[in-house]
Amino acid sequence: MPHPMIDQQDAWQALAAHARKMRTTHLGELFSNAPGRHAAFTRRAAGLTLDLSKQRWRDETLERLLALAREAEVPEAIRALLAGERVNRSEDRPALHTALRLPPEESLVVEGEDLVPAVHATLARMATMVERFHAGQWRGATGRAIRDVVNLGVGGSDLGPLMVTHALADYRPEGVHTIGVHFASTMDGSQLADYLSRLNPETTLFVLSSKSFTTIDTLSNARTARDWLMARLMGENREEGVDAELVMRQHFIGLSASPEKMHEWGIADEHQLAFWEWVGGRYSLWGAIGLPIALVVGMDHFRALLAGAHAMDRHFSEAPLSDNLPVLLALAGIWNVNFLDIRAHSILPYDGRLEYFAAYLEQLEMESNGKSVTHDGREVGYSTCPVLWGQLGPNAQHAFYQLLHQGTQSVECDFIAPKVRYDDVADPATRDHLMGQHRLTLANCFAQSRVLMLGDKAIKEDGPRPVYKHYRGNQPSSTLLLDRLTPATLGSLIALYEHKVFVQATIWDINPFDQWGVELGKQIAGETQRILEHQADIADMDDSTRGLIEAVWSAERGS
Ligand code: F6P
Repeated sequence: MPHPMIDQQDAWQALAAHARKMRTTHLGELFSNAPGRHAAFTRRAAGLTLDLSKQRWRDETLERLLALAREAEVPEAIRALLAGERVNRSEDRPALHTALRLPPEESLVVEGEDLVPAVHATLARMATMVERFHAGQWRGATGRAIRDVVNLGVGGSDLGPLMVTHALADYRPEGVHTIGVHFASTMDGSQLADYLSRLNPETTLFVLSSKSFTTIDTLSNARTARDWLMARLMGENREEGVDAELVMRQHFIGLSASPEKMHEWGIADEHQLAFWEWVGGRYSLWGAIGLPIALVVGMDHFRALLAGAHAMDRHFSEAPLSDNLPVLLALAGIWNVNFLDIRAHSILPYDGRLEYFAAYLEQLEMESNGKSVTHDGREVGYSTCPVLWGQLGPNAQHAFYQLLHQGTQSVECDFIAPKVRYDDVADPATRDHLMGQHRLTLANCFAQSRVLMLGDKAIKEDGPRPVYKHYRGNQPSSTLLLDRLTPATLGSLIALYEHKVFVQATIWDINPFDQWGVELGKQIAGETQRILEHQADIADMDDSTRGLIEAVWSAERGS
């Protein structure tokens, strides 16, 4: 007899009844009737302050949501995740990204093996590689020091390193040979072609990042990069002693869970960093896949990123549910999606360094929780992951905030900003201006969440307003303040969202660690490619796809 689905259980039913009463309550009313609401709904951990007071809930709501978390056995699930149990049930393996950030003195024995020594052995190999680059000792085939590294990867093998290197660009170590780190992910080759037109092959190295080492997007870019290097370094002007083997050895590094496939592709064994099947692609920036991050910020800052994430892991494991940041953020989302019917969620960082954070979370949240089947294979009868998108808040104010303020969709927003910035700028004249610009940015951040909450009531003067100037407000939001943006607080911010996703998946009874939904598309793309290349029959295609393919063929023929 399968257990009743979560929406049939007592805590969910009680919340549904409570939600019927709450639906007509405006956020503005919740504030006017409750002084001290900010303090009551704000929690701190690991350099982060989370203000959940602008959620459309009250104390009773939160108590009922915590009861739901207990009924869904969230505490037991957290313990199982961190202990390395096989929580990824469809692929029958643990999801141990948290092991990648355990300090060396700890141990984590999973199925008879302590994982920590192997994790730190990989970090030590990374450190050796990074040192060679930073000392100007990693030389290309013609003997010149490597100056540019291009990461070829997609999804989790691109977005995490891209997001973090951008966010922590201020943390480049001083006095080292500078390496320009670039990212090319798109299978159409456009990003790569741009780099190839600008970079010097003698001083450029490619990092092939792919957990599976089978992703066509990455492998097709890798082939183009290899051909470019061979043509330029082995062409007519080739120097004495430069051969294909040397080019392969000095210009490629592989990061993957498949040493065999890296070897087959021709990556030198000593230039491979292998990781484990139990690290999910979108959870992988903490180890080998983080090499581009370490190349930009150095190993000390990379280790600080890991330490910040570990601080959040400890908080997640030890704090009671009612003070637990990932649990509370998850419950706010569950309340909005499942009980207030708010199925759009916007991520709005107010700091240009977090430019790629929303794109990163789009994969983390939607690839993890875009599921509709429970662990035991039943269709869910409730909503799971909302549509999540975002953009730097100040830019979004001039783009889609119109919809947030006056459109017809209810949207939950996460506002994210550091409390302090620029106070360490050396030049006092610029420092004062820049600190002012940061305060301007914070003022906008706080103003937007206030207007989204209160609507017209945010305006002091009362008087008749034309209907097109009406703001209804009542849009819920969370505000996350980082003490400042550092490697450590960025680590805890990312870990916060990873764990939020896990808690929501636990309540929805879905597996956040697989992604079967993307597999069929890859398979059909392969078949379609064979037809486009005239290697298979078009007759079986549907009419629309056939028409599109024929349009391409006829354009290629010039007719
Ligand atoms: O698109 C599916 C996916 O498997 C993601 O989960 C993953 O991050 C990405 O492709 C890249 O995969 P890989 O690292 O194996 O190349």
